[in-house]
Formats: sequence, C-alpha cells, structure tokens
Amino acid sequence: MKRFRRLRANETIRSLVRETRVDKKELIYPIFVTEGENIKNPVPSMPVVFQYSVDRLDEILKEIDKSGISGLLIFGIPKHKDELATSAYDDNGITQKAVRFIKEKYPEMLVIADVCLCEYTSHGHCGVVEHDIILNDETLPLLSKMSVSLAKAGADIIAPSDMMDGRVAAIRRSLDENGFVNTPIMAYSAKFASGYYGPFRDAAESAPCFGDRRTYQMDIANGREALREIESDIEEGADIVMVKPALAYLDVVKEASKYNIPLAAYNVSGEYSMVKAAAQNGWIDEKRIVLENLTAIKRAGADIIITYHALDAAKWLEEE
Ligand code: PBG
Ligand code: ZN
Repeated sequence: MKRFRRLRANETIRSLVRETRVDKKELIYPIFVTEGENIKNPVPSMPVVFQYSVDRLDEILKEIDKSGISGLLIFGIPKHKDELATSAYDDNGITQKAVRFIKEKYPEMLVIADVCLCEYTSHGHCGVVEHDIILNDETLPLLSKMSVSLAKAGADIIAPSDMMDGRVAAIRRSLDENGFVNTPIMAYSAKFASGYYGPFRDAAESAPCFGDRRTYQMDIANGREALREIESDIEEGADIVMVKPALAYLDVVKEASKYNIPLAAYNVSGEYSMVKAAAQNGWIDEKRIVLENLTAIKRAGADIIITYHALDAAKWLEEE
C-alpha cells in the first residue's frame, strides 16, 4: 500500500513538502481614484473597496505600504468623458495626477497603470466608436498617447486592457520614441468577455451604454485562441502577459505558464464579490477561501496575482 499519509502527519512535515506558496510580493492591489475632494465612496457591489479622491488617497496608500505587497494597479475615474476619451491622455488628468502623487510619496511602490479608454469615453466602450462599431486602428494612437502620458507621470508599468489588435506594438513604439524604452508593458493578453467584471464597472463607472464588449474581448469558450493572443502579444513586445479573469480560467493560466515570460492572473471584481458576499453571510470562512483561491491561481502557474484581497491576504500570510 502507498502511504501518502506519512507526509501529512503534522504541519511541519506538510510544510516541508508543500509545492506551492503564495508570497505577498507577488500580489498587486487595484485602486480607484476619482476627481473631487474629500471623497471616499464605498463601492456597493464590492465590500471594503472605495473610490478615493487624491487628497484622501494616502489612507489606502499607507495600508498598501505597510502590507508589504509589491504595489498597485491604478484606475482613474474622470469627471469629463467624451467620444475621444481626451481625459485619458491629458497630462493633468486624474490618473496622471494620482500617479504623480503616489510616486512622490512612495517612490518604491510599484505603480501599474491600466490603459483603456472605457472610463474616459462618454459611451463607455474601450475604443473609438463610429456608427456603433468599436474601431480598432483608430483607437491605437489614443492608447499610445495615454501610455506615454502615464509613463511621463511616473507609472512603472503600462498595462493595456482594451483588447484592440496590435496595441502592444503600437504602445511599445510610442514609449520607445518618447524615451521610455525601460518602461515594461504588462498586456492583458487573454481577457475574456466576462460577466465577472460587473462589480468593477460600478467601481470604475465604465459600463458601456450600448451593446457589450464581445467584439473585442475574447469569447469565454476559447482556450486555444487565448494562447494565440498571448503569443502575439509576446511577439509585439509584451514583458508580462495576463489571463483575466483568473479562477474560472485556470486551465488557460496553466497553458499560458508554459511560455517563458512572467504571467499575471487577475482575480477580478466578481470573483471577489462572490467571496465577500458568502463570507458576510457566514457561509464560508473568508480567510481560508481566499488563501485557497490564491494558492490555486499560483498552482495553475501564475507568477503575479492582481487581487482586491491583496491587503487581507498579506496580513493572513503573515499569520500563517
Ligand atoms: C477596463 C478594465 C476592466 C477590468 C479591468 N480593466 C473592465 C472591463 O473590461 O469591462 C475588470 C476588472 C475587474 O472586474 O476587477 N477595460
Ligand atoms: Zn476598457
């Protein structure tokens, strides 16, 4: 008889043979920054997640700093939205201001800037719209301008999440031409058209006002196509690739981990809200479930996890 239980007898021996560990340095915490003053707005569908104005941003930055995680992913919510997302590439836009503020106060904190137009367009789509069609090539220069503007503000990593074809190459070229050859790109390479983004769209005020995102984000059924997306982003110059969402797409995470490039997985808003809702009802043990989920994402092959649980998880990992 095989005696598997020999190595399960106590925590010391279990810990010795444990195959996967989550390190808080692998965690990234998403934050939402809004225009205005003295704002700390709760996001109703995401317990313990808030939109902050820049003057109150330090409340959360302090916690991020103290937690020992590597850094944050920033989403800006501008007051002014228009057809061409002009606030997205305004050097004095909300996201640029917030990035400057963070890097001034916490130069060591890694600031990853999400690059997409949906928070900045009046229609809420991730690209330029004409006759209800989301145009690909016309969107690329705007994404490039936004990337350069955020790099200028001090962003450490540029993370395009729009899913336009060819955007990694376009952004890489613009960053290089503007002196940012050393700014890495973390591409949302396999981003699925997922129902799990619902709560995020409340948080970022970025729901499309007509149609959906299925003409640019990936079909949820397509695992092999995800690998083609990843290969193409690597060819175009991505430094880090991403699979999003994480938990419902662990098969894709696993397959993506065979490429020799750092892999991020985004444990998205809906995945977070489901855990929070069940925990608030006393139906699950939140700490145990969160650490189990993060371990599963690592076990599947992710190197980096973007998660709204990051601050709690860092604390819990410390306790372990
Ligand atoms: C913007 C963007 C979205 C998310 C990250 N960047 C929303 C979307 O594509 O609609 C989702 C993040 C989450 O659900 O936590 N394109
Ligand atoms: Zn978008």
